[in-house]
Amino acid sequence: MLCFSVLNRTENVILGQPVTSRYLAWYLILITNLRMPDDKENTMSTLLACPKNKGNTFDVCSYVADNSGVELLAISQNRVNDLKDYTSIVLCSGVQGGKVQKGLLRWLNSIQRTSIDENAKIYLFLTWFGIGQSDKSAVNEVKNTLEEKKMSLENDYMTCYGGKGIIRFSHPNKEDFETVLNWVNSLSQ
Ligand SMILES: Cc1cc2nc3c(=O)[nH]c(=O)nc-3n(C[C@H](O)[C@H](O)[C@H](O)COP(=O)(O)O)c2cc1C
Repeated sequence: MLCFSVLNRTENVILGQPVTSRYLAWYLILITNLRMPDDKENTMSTLLACPKNKGNTFDVCSYVADNSGVELLAISQNRVNDLKDYTSIVLCSGVQGGKVQKGLLRWLNSIQRTSIDENAKIYLFLTWFGIGQSDKSAVNEVKNTLEEKKMSLENDYMTCYGGKGIIRFSHPNKEDFETVLNWVNSLSQ
């Protein structure tokens, strides 16, 4: 009230131009309602979809989500409300016998082309031992599944080692976490 009574009584100047109190009041209302997007909002349109809430793949995804503001969906635990909110969807899985984990594939089969934003891009992130071409087999499996549903997988996929016991022991490590984080960040730029 005080603000408006002051405005009503005064003639003001913005950028050297005289403005009436009515225009100044509109200007103040406008700028107080405008919000500058912060870093988190810039990256919130990326979703990491991980089949389990534990394991190597989930560990990497958790690190990325904690350090970037992208959203992490552990498929076994949650249902995501609206996939249309995301412009990048990163499918994440450990490689098992040249395939992705069944939970991821089941989730993929439950999605329709119309469930996602028409401009959304779908990527794949895999953890693995590094055996032969088993990553490529897993990529092809996802690619074919998506194509059957009139969706496509981006060619730019990411892998990192994920150890079990003495095989690839100590992976994923800090360097792996950072590499995947940088890749995920690059998807929204
Ligand atoms: C049953 C089984 C099958 C696997 N098959 C492969 C494979 O074909 N190629 C490969 O490079 N790694 C393979 N691995 C290694 C896993 O892909 C790797 O440890 C991955 O990080 C596991 O991810 P997770 O902990 O998120 O389940 C296999 C591991 C297990 C336990």
